[in-house]
Amino acid sequence: MVARRLADESVQPAAFAFSNDNAKWAEWKIGLYPAGRQQSAVIPLLMRAQDQDGWISRATIETVADMLGMAYIRVLEVATFYTQFQLAPVGSKAHIQVCGTTPCMLRGSEALIDICKSKIHPEPHHLNAEGTMSWEEVECLGACVNAPMVAIFHDTYEDLSAERFDEIVDAFAAGKGDTIKPGPQVDRQYSAALGGATTLTEKPSAKRSKFVPPATGGNEPAIPAAPSAAVSTKKQAVTEESAPALKGTPKRAKVSETKAESERAASAASAKANGKPNKAMREKTVGAESKAGKVNGGKAVGKF
Ligand code: FES
Repeated sequence: MVARRLADESVQPAAFAFSNDNAKWAEWKIGLYPAGRQQSAVIPLLMRAQDQDGWISRATIETVADMLGMAYIRVLEVATFYTQFQLAPVGSKAHIQVCGTTPCMLRGSEALIDICKSKIHPEPHHLNAEGTMSWEEVECLGACVNAPMVAIFHDTYEDLSAERFDEIVDAFAAGKGDTIKPGPQVDRQYSAALGGATTLTEKPSAKRSKFVPPATGGNEPAIPAAPSAAVSTKKQAVTEESAPALKGTPKRAKVSETKAESERAASAASAKANGKPNKAMREKTVGAESKAGKVNGGKAVGKF
């Protein structure tokens, strides 16, 4: 797993904008959340932006943050956390994410990575010569039972052998990725047993036969006697010793509301916080927060 950082400034576009259709969709999506909770739309909006441009640029992060009233760093945190978000231009025909976590590794993911290295590029996060294919190794994608597996854009391809994966890479490189059915590449439905179900094989029916308990031959175990009335009705006294929560917060740990509020206000005043993203704080920053140059609109080579 490599550190996930924004792409080099040389490929960052100067600006990002949703297309008209996507802007309407984003407005509808934001409206689904209660007032004050719009930031919950951050993942859907980032994903829509990625579906539109192929990857998430610094400008995309800032635009989404402005739309949701979030600090840029909060959206950057989301985009850099999830490997589903691509932080640099990727292949226009396929970006292959190979799971390299233990179950997939034990079932052959290293052979899949070797195929990526030989057919796409020796290094992850690099485009092939045509700019149509790229790959990377990622951590568990949640389909371990069907290991080894890869994800390509929104689909997963599971139960892979090196031979089958080789065919899949060739199909995507030829622009025929839609001919490959996502999911298990063997005789398996989802994550059910290979070759079909082994339990619950009878067809469900609304009819039920009456349950008759099996005969025991008179060897039933003795039923334990019910507790005596004296024991079952006796109430246990609840004291601070038997229930420490009754004591509540110790006095020495309590802070008056007035004191807490004045400390909060003093801290907000010293940080010049006003509840909005503080652009002034970012003016002299570098890297993820710095201003970008205009290079190639940030598009993957050969993508548009
Ligand atoms: S280990 Fe590969 S999907 Fe979980």
